[in-house]
Amino acid sequence: MRSHYCGEVNETLVGETVTVTGWMHRRRDHGGVIFVDLRDREGLVQVVFNPEDAASFEVAEKVRSEYVLEMTGLVRLRPEGSDNADLKSGKIEIVANKLEILNSAETPPFPLTEQAEVNEDIRLRYRYIDLRRPEMLEKIRFRSKISRELRAFLDDAGYWDIETPILTKATPEGARDYLVPSRTHPGDFFALPQSPQLFKQLLMVAGMDKYYQIVRCFRDEDLRADRQPEFTQLDVEASFVDEETLMTTMEEMIRNLFDKVLNVQLPSPFSRMPYAEAMDRFGSDKPDLRIAMELVEVSDLMAAVDFKVFSTPAKDEGSRVAALRVPNGSVMSRKEIDDYTKFVSIYGAKGLAYIKVNDLAAGVEGLQSPILKFLPDDVVMAIMERTGAQTGDLVFFGADKANIVNEALGALRVKVGEDRDMLEGDWQPLWVVDFPMFDWDEKNNRWTALHHPFTAPQESDIGLLETDPGKCLSRAYDMVLNGTELGGGSMRIHQTEVQSQVFTLLGISKEEANEKFGFLLDALKHGCPPHGGLAFGLDRLAMLMTGSRSIRDVMAFPKTQSASCLLTDAPSDVSEAQLKELNIRLRQKPVVAEVGAAESS
Ligand code: AMO
Ligand code: AMP
Repeated sequence: MRSHYCGEVNETLVGETVTVTGWMHRRRDHGGVIFVDLRDREGLVQVVFNPEDAASFEVAEKVRSEYVLEMTGLVRLRPEGSDNADLKSGKIEIVANKLEILNSAETPPFPLTEQAEVNEDIRLRYRYIDLRRPEMLEKIRFRSKISRELRAFLDDAGYWDIETPILTKATPEGARDYLVPSRTHPGDFFALPQSPQLFKQLLMVAGMDKYYQIVRCFRDEDLRADRQPEFTQLDVEASFVDEETLMTTMEEMIRNLFDKVLNVQLPSPFSRMPYAEAMDRFGSDKPDLRIAMELVEVSDLMAAVDFKVFSTPAKDEGSRVAALRVPNGSVMSRKEIDDYTKFVSIYGAKGLAYIKVNDLAAGVEGLQSPILKFLPDDVVMAIMERTGAQTGDLVFFGADKANIVNEALGALRVKVGEDRDMLEGDWQPLWVVDFPMFDWDEKNNRWTALHHPFTAPQESDIGLLETDPGKCLSRAYDMVLNGTELGGGSMRIHQTEVQSQVFTLLGISKEEANEKFGFLLDALKHGCPPHGGLAFGLDRLAMLMTGSRSIRDVMAFPKTQSASCLLTDAPSDVSEAQLKELNIRLRQKPVVAEVGAAESS
């Protein structure tokens, strides 16, 4: 059909006859001459129809937006002064001598010719049209480039691309499972994998040595801008390696990717930060290092003050009082501070104390704050000194359980940083290391795995599994980029006893462990090499690299916040006959659920 893509027809083809195919982007009638911009995935080309060529002119008069066309004609330079510098084909036009309508099209639900803000639900409902927009095409093309580069790197490094099952057993990664009923085993269910974690470990036992897979994972969890119920991981595992080797290889892969597709040189090596330091300084295990502000510990200064809001958490072991200095923040209005107070309340903060530094040289007299009256002058001045406050700054305070302060001030740091344009540098990659093995779940009074239960403890901490599990650090690492967790992994437990010990700590009984992971425990007994790996969120990587606000924009067919597909209307009900075949009876007649809107964040 075509001899060239529309976007590829350029001045090197002047004088040649070409055939192009695509969609009718725009038509203009200019005093007897018709101009058609034809669009395909590579771009636009202008085609001219003259009345002298009556046959094609007549057809050209009939074409409407998004009709599918095939055109043949002679390439010529555009007349002086009518070049379009925005188009690859902007120096030329095609003078048509043949036009065929391959298919007609209804009026599109939204125009593709202008950058109109279209409601995301409509875009998702007509995704095939939304994807025709150059911006979306570019993102999908970019994503394909990312996969290609990652594959090429890993292929060259000796990693084998191996598939693992989708119909499988639950893999604990902290979310709910998507279940699939089995027809052949009435009452039994498959789980869709939250990750290929267990299979990739089994591949190491099998001696595959180096594995990777670009693989779909399924997690039924609360969705956000960077979370989808099905998403793609670049999943990697290797045997006889330690974290140094693995992290170095993964870093090289990401550096190579940025170099090849963005022409960006990331630092070498990436900086590393222990989890505890990240929490102390940034209130987050995925700090955005483009923002210079840091949390400053002031618990020791607040322990003796006569202000219970601060002194109680200052004296409590699991709590903290932290300050966040906002350079030049004293100009903030009452309303802005109130809005930030509301913002931190989402994270459980009960308030947001602040001090405005109007004139540091004037001492306490030069400060302005509703809490000054509760704090002795020497404490206030010590805070000023420790936070490095300058005239014109504002200092926020968080006082509560450490996790609440960290979440609240950690999120506030990012929000204020973005609101006040404080982002410095384009790319700030970071490894976060030395994670604790376990988190204490207050509500259920038990330990949970901070990563997953197959993560190995640090050699020197193995004893702590018995004596003080909360202090036991793991051999896990996360790669963080600009405040997003791009990927995470760990060295794995490869000894049955340690794995059993961890299961016991997590409150998983022998029977339960056998029922759920017996196959893994068995495999550990059959010559399991030391191994480790990690998985990157490919959608998140593509989101960051394309500067998109949501991973939905780099997925061809994403789901809404309520995990539905507006295009196919999935999930949807099934026939009684199908249910019967699957031995399923619904507990109650389903009420027609409202199809959830795409989130706006
Ligand atoms: P983890 O659970 O950290 O680790 O997942 C790895 C990476 O996958 C991405 N990710 C997601 N992306 C989009 N939507 C989601 N719902 C979602 N959930 C996770 C993140 C994350 O860093 N098996 C381990 C890896 C390992 O230990 O090797 C795992 O799955 O970018
Ligand atoms: P109150 O005495 O409760 O009116 O609080 C005085 C100031 O302290 C107000 O500015 C509150 O926003 C702030 N505040 C209250 N609780 C906390 C808290 N847990 N952390 C930080 N600031 C708080």
